[in-house]
Amino acid sequence: MNEKYGTLPSSSSSSTTNTIVTNGRKPSSVKKSFKLLAKLGLIGLSIYLTFQMFSIQQHASQFQPKNQEEWSKIIKEHPYAPPSANDLRGPCPALNTLANHGFLPRDGRNITQKQLFESVITLGTPTFVAHFISKAPFSKFKKQHPSDTVMSYLRPLKMVDLKQFGIHNAVEHDVSLSRCDTNVPPFDANRFIPERFERMIQLAKKRQEEQENHVKGLNENIRDQGSQEMLVVSSKDVNDHRKLCWLESIRDNPFFSMGTSQQIPIAGESAALLEILGQDSAIQEDHLRSFFIDEKIPDNWQPHPPATLKLIKQMWQSFKGVQQSNATLPKDEDKSD
Ligand code: HEM
Repeated sequence: MNEKYGTLPSSSSSSTTNTIVTNGRKPSSVKKSFKLLAKLGLIGLSIYLTFQMFSIQQHASQFQPKNQEEWSKIIKEHPYAPPSANDLRGPCPALNTLANHGFLPRDGRNITQKQLFESVITLGTPTFVAHFISKAPFSKFKKQHPSDTVMSYLRPLKMVDLKQFGIHNAVEHDVSLSRCDTNVPPFDANRFIPERFERMIQLAKKRQEEQENHVKGLNENIRDQGSQEMLVVSSKDVNDHRKLCWLESIRDNPFFSMGTSQQIPIAGESAALLEILGQDSAIQEDHLRSFFIDEKIPDNWQPHPPATLKLIKQMWQSFKGVQQSNATLPKDEDKSD
């Protein structure tokens, strides 16, 4: 008997085993080794993660323009050209823009994860956001065959085409700002729908006019000279437009789907619109038109990577903003009532 470990259970004979167990507990030396292993594992994992983060940051820093001069040089080397008839484009105005400037292959084909990461970094996406969003398509767009091995499920694609970004509910979703739902005419989520997009601008115009009239009402000395302000599309306009698109989807789309896996990217795209393409929860009308209609980087624009936390905060505000929006469809349009 070992005093430290207590008595051997009567059923255990010293001839069959040397393991010493008391009250169902493992001996403290085993416990100690287990704790040590766990600690070493944690330390190893932390070192690995720190190293990974450092190397992602290093990689990104090569593609983040440092100042206006550097950006002018980059944009000169990447002139705009609209896509030709055989080039592929998708539902994301930012990625289409990157292809139209040659940051991504101009034909929209055979895009690698590295190219996707580097290009969205160039446009001002915060590093770790870029890392995660540029990974998703390479696992989501896979076309697994029934007889594929289990291991092959874990292997991401090597390349994707911009057209694949329109695969419904992989990343693409219903209730887009400038595209119709996949199951609503013209049954193509990659196609830009001008009338849909224009409503967002009209909402902004109306809000801005109301605000200006309110200010004029407060100060009678200001004569009505029409709107002097540059039109800016705000977070409220995007949220109101989104809410209207949502109500239309409920009304018109027999296969409408909206869950958390759609709402997170929706909030992310609104945040990207207002903080990466735009700035401080808003975007100038001319910039918005350039990114969405011509899919061109505006001449008077330069990347301004927002802090990751600012982007996340905007995501949350966009999510809550749609919930709290008072926008409703005109009565004669809303047949679901
Ligand atoms: C610079 C970074 C990016 C910005 C600023 C950006 C911006 C946007 C915006 C504003 C939309 C909404 C379009 C609309 O609702 O009509 C959108 C849609 C989309 N983006 Fe991006 N994006 C970026 C990067 C990416 C990346 C890396 C991916 C790859 C996962 C991606 C995939 C998509 C897809 C699939 C849609 C369509 C969603 C839908 O409306 O159904 N984007 N993006």
